Amino acid sequence: TPDITSICKEADSGIKDLEKAVRTRKCCPPNIKKTIKPFVFPNEKTVRMRWPAHNGSKEQVEKYKKAIQAMRDLPDDHPHSFIQQAKIHCAYCNGGYTQVDSGFPDIDIQIHNSWLFFPYHRWYLYFYERILGKLINDPTFALPYWNWDNPAGMTIPDIFLEEKEKSKSNPLFDIYRDARHLPPKLVDLDFGGGERDTTNEIQIACNLSTVYRDLVRNGADTKSFFGGEYVAGDAPVANGDKSVGSVEAGCHIAVHRWVGDSTQANFEDMGNLYSSGYDPLFYAHHSNVDRMWKLWKDLGIPGHTEPTDPDWLNASYVFYDENQDLVRVYNKDCIKMDALKYNYYEESKSVFPWRKSRP
Ligand code: C2O
Repeated sequence: TPDITSICKEADSGIKDLEKAVRTRKCCPPNIKKTIKPFVFPNEKTVRMRWPAHNGSKEQVEKYKKAIQAMRDLPDDHPHSFIQQAKIHCAYCNGGYTQVDSGFPDIDIQIHNSWLFFPYHRWYLYFYERILGKLINDPTFALPYWNWDNPAGMTIPDIFLEEKEKSKSNPLFDIYRDARHLPPKLVDLDFGGGERDTTNEIQIACNLSTVYRDLVRNGADTKSFFGGEYVAGDAPVANGDKSVGSVEAGCHIAVHRWVGDSTQANFEDMGNLYSSGYDPLFYAHHSNVDRMWKLWKDLGIPGHTEPTDPDWLNASYVFYDENQDLVRVYNKDCIKMDALKYNYYEESKSVFPWRKSRP
């Protein structure tokens, strides 16, 4: 995985109609520093509790809006700016980097569609959350998660919608979303492009079985849950490949497609990797995807364990942290959620409402 201080190029893969792309393909990080620090675990006492986006307290919602607004107010070339945070995803996923540091300058890096998917996004959100907290001086700041595995959380959460009063603007709103899929429409966790014409009751039942499918039936062992091996010298794996992890290929991608605006050439924002990070909903979606990893482990089913292969444990990424330092982080460290000082607040005791939803 790349040292982001090395050459970064314009994103050129996975974007169909280049002229019609509504977001920039220049995704390289700004004013890159040359020193990369080793990662140290936070030494704070409090644990950041991520909360269900459909059920946040007034205070949680206000803080979140304030932090995102502060991020939007930074100059574009600031490594913490809203745009730079969005570009991280684009650079890592649409051919911004090659494997030059591992001796394969002609092969792009793609952290999707393989076993890098879960750890990479866990780190991405880890720093994103800490940066937001720092912007509002709140060391307890925690992200919301889009609780789409719970019947009460199956619409786009209200906090992400346009303000009712026209004079106000919501920093969590994004204009590039599919107009057909705004509330009260329920998400289709098995969305593949076609509209399902069904009742809410059936949609809920289908969604619960889809979660069961991805966490239990199709994710029975390490490889089927995390995705296939991907090491230096491997060409990027295509989405749709059989080896893609169950959640990544399942609920995860379905939600991306379902939210993205189908009238845009590349289904911006959520429907394409290069533009996803421009929708604040992306981070709430990924927070829930990250939570699926935790729930999968908590099921305690034999086989539900993280990879132990050194190639996985020692894969690394470089991010800007909340102090604007470049930090190198390893997969092996993101397994330790306790040490990362964040967790998920569960609103109901039945964390697994899909447990009995065997398809
Ligand atoms: Cu990096 Cu949901 O994609």
